Order: sequence, then structure tokens, then C-alpha cells
Amino acid sequence: MLTKLSTLYKTTSILLKANIVAGRPTNFIRMASSLIKDKAFVNGEWISAKSGATYNVTNPATGEVVGSVPDMGVADTEDAIQKAYKAYQTFKKTTAKERSEKLKKAYKLMMENKEELARIITLENGKPLAEANGEIMYGAGFCEWFAEEGRRVQGHVVASPFPTKKIFTLKQPIGVCAMITPWNFPNAMITRKACAAIAAGCTVVLKPAEDTPLSALAICEIFEQAGIPKGVFNVVTCDRGNAPSVGKLLCESPLVSLISFTGSSAVGKILMKQSADTVKKCSMELGGNAPFIVFDSADLDLAVKGAMSSKFRCTGQTCVCANRFLIQEGIYEKFVARLAEAMDKELKVGNGLTQGTTQGPLINKRAADKVATFVEDAKSKGANVVRGGQRSDVGESFYEPTLLSNVTSGMLVSKEEIFGPVAGVAKFKSEEEAIALANGTSAGLAGYLYTGDCAQQWRVAEALEYGIVGVNEGLFSTPEAPFGGFKESGLGREGGIGFGIEEYLEVKYMCLGGM
Ligand code: SIN
Repeated sequence: MLTKLSTLYKTTSILLKANIVAGRPTNFIRMASSLIKDKAFVNGEWISAKSGATYNVTNPATGEVVGSVPDMGVADTEDAIQKAYKAYQTFKKTTAKERSEKLKKAYKLMMENKEELARIITLENGKPLAEANGEIMYGAGFCEWFAEEGRRVQGHVVASPFPTKKIFTLKQPIGVCAMITPWNFPNAMITRKACAAIAAGCTVVLKPAEDTPLSALAICEIFEQAGIPKGVFNVVTCDRGNAPSVGKLLCESPLVSLISFTGSSAVGKILMKQSADTVKKCSMELGGNAPFIVFDSADLDLAVKGAMSSKFRCTGQTCVCANRFLIQEGIYEKFVARLAEAMDKELKVGNGLTQGTTQGPLINKRAADKVATFVEDAKSKGANVVRGGQRSDVGESFYEPTLLSNVTSGMLVSKEEIFGPVAGVAKFKSEEEAIALANGTSAGLAGYLYTGDCAQQWRVAEALEYGIVGVNEGLFSTPEAPFGGFKESGLGREGGIGFGIEEYLEVKYMCLGGM
């Protein structure tokens, strides 16, 4: 069966490759790829919405329709929860080794099909193919990582203070897990959650982002082929109109034990409130406002390299993208000049399917409108436009890579998460001032600092109120490390040794008396 699929996928690959020559994007994939689905996936079956409603998925680069999926509602979601609950009764009894083997197969299948999976990401999300390929490696990495993590879940035998009692702790799966995942990493943010849950013995009902359901459905196909039993991984697709009621049901259902969400802090807070009545465990990976601090002693080449990858990955649309560049006065002018130079040299705006593109569209026109508002606000408050500063003529969802200097803390680009290709640079004098500016926000996901002074590296990293700190490094995401934030950036951690899988486990204290 797997061989047959690989052959089919290989043929698809050749067709797709043939369509991306001479920098010309393809629209052929929606016909050719067997990984593109037009049904949701519940209890091992490809199904339509009970209402029969569907909605179109569009390519943000072109506005072209690249697929159509069910627009499901509350009744469909309730059904998926019931099926996941039923499947849980059996799945929780499987061994960690059995689950691990299936996740390893999923890893292998994802790697075998990485080109198709990457193209699906580019079609629905817009990110350049090279980045989409990187995302598949990252996403598949979570299948592999949690296949290994699941086998090392351990309880303890505790030294008892009572002569007649023995004390044990057991780790058990938490139950049915609801997941709401974002559009910026339509593959990896699913595997980061779902593979941890499956490794722990939980079942899943997942609502992917409205803009990017195709990657989620492709993962269903991969998981099915990997032998993950029916009812364990269920995906309910819906458009914006149904999203709030579907999300509310996932939070309020007494059959669901945990809600895991990646997205904005504002939506995270709503989901947490809705989860309060059932005292659901909340695993939240929320918005950031990352400071990127460069001290006078920094290696300028390293700092500019880090700035480019941290700021412009995914066209500035990651939760850990540098949001506020804080540059010490002695190196400020040089940093701005060098960053402008690197932007001129390395950034190419275009369709993600076109060779050489490094900056795709934003996820939709509304996102580009928001970025435009932020830049206008900064200009009106005294920021200087060093590069860009306007919408791109490539399409309505595009915005020019932008560099603003003379940025101050009262501007929207400093106060809010930009989620676009805009680097706003501010100047500071002292280390204390930099730390105060960096921590002066309710967000606490990721921060960056560049300095050649070893003592300063430790001192500032410790002082930063952030869950992740890159020291002389702009790219840190990997399954091996815990991902998550302080303050309003979230609750819990994903990935890492112990952390990610713990989210999906309950601890049971067992006291054995009469000994
Ligand atoms: C995110 O933007 O939420 C995730 C980014 C990452 O995993 O690097």
C-alpha cells in the first residue's frame, strides 16, 4: 500500500516540478496531488459537513482557488468529539511502543512526501517553497521526536514515610484533546501538538485555521497510512463564520479534557474563559512582541544575519519574529545601514512557487491592511522609512519589506505584534534601559540579544522575561527544545525533553496500603 502511494506521489512530483520552470508559478497541483483532500476526516472516514456546506481555500499570492473543504458546524464537531471519546477508551490501552511505531511510520511517510506537503503549504499559506520544505522537516521532526518521547514516560516509586504504605506515581493520558491550530505553520503546529498527544495515548479533535485546512487534511492521510487507528486523529474544517461556535464547543464539551491553542493572546483568553466551567487544562502558545537587542560589543555580521532570519522568516508572520529592534547608540547607525544592505541583497518579494522568492504574501489582504496601518502610524509619529514603507505591487496581500528607524515605544509597531515584514529600529543607551524596554510588554514569548561580552550574555538573558532567549542566534526552533512563553504569551510548553508530552499526561498518586 505504501509503495503504491509513493509511486503515485512520485508521478505527482514530476508533474509539479515541470510546472515551476522559468520562475513561472504552477496551479496544476490542485488537480494532481492525491494529498489534497476536499473532505474532513472523522473516525477514519472522509466526510462532508452535515449541512453539505463547503468553502474555498485560496492562494494568498494570487487569489486563486486551490481547494474546497467542508464548512462544518457544532453538530459535526459534537459528532467528532463523541467519536474521539469512544476511540480513546481503546487507544489509552495501547502500549507506548505501539504508538511510537506508528509515529515513526508517520515521520517516514512525511519525509517521503515532503515535496507535495511543502507545495500544499505554499499554495494555501503563500510562504516560499524553500521555507515550506523547511517546515515539513520541522513538522516531521515532531513525529519522530514524540515517537521517542512517548517511550520514556515514567512514574516513580517514592520513599514512603509509612511502614505499611507504598507510594507510586503513574502517568496516564489526559483524554480527548481539542486543538485549534494557526495558519502560519499549517503543518508543524499540528504535529507539535498532535504527535505529543498521540504518543501519550490521547485522541484528538483538531480545528485547523480557516485559511490553511489542506495541510491538516494531508496529515490525516499520512496518519491513516501510518496505521494510527480510526477516531484517534480527527479534523473538523470550518470557515470564519462557524469558527467561534466550533471553538466554543471544543472548550465547553465535558468529554474534552484539554484545549491546546496557538494564536493570538486575545483569542487565547476567550478560549480560557470558555474552558473555565469544565476546568479544562489549557495549553496556550500565544502572541509575542520579541525584542531584538544589539549591544555595542556585538558581532555586527552575526547580528544582521540573525535579524534577517528572525524578522523575515515566513514574511514576518511567526510568533517569535523580532518585533522591536533595540540597538545601542554606538552601533545604531552601522546596524541600520547593514540591515538595509542585507534586505536589498537577500529579499525578493513574489509568489512562493516562483524560484528565488524569499518573501511571499501575507496570509490575506486584511493582514496587509493591518501592516499598512502600523507603518502609517509609525510615520505619523516620526519614524523614518529607510526601506519599503508601502504596499507591494505584486498583489493585494503583499507588503514591501520595510525598515523604519527612529522608532519609539508609543508607536503601534512597538506596542503590538506586527506579523509582517516590518523592522522597526529604536536606540538605547544603557543595559538597564534595554532590559526595561524589552520587558515593558505583557508578552513574553521570545527575545534575542547580541553581545560579545560573555557576562552580559548571561546577565541579560536571565533578566529577560521571555520563555525563549536567542543569544547571538536568530533561529532556535527545534523539536528538542521547549517552546512557550511567560506572561500573556501562554501556558505550558511544546516540544522539548519531558515538557511537550507532559501537557497530555495526568499524574496519578497511588497509595498501596496494608503492606
Ligand atoms: C509560531 O509562530 O507560533 C511558531 C514559530 C516556530 O515554531 O518557530
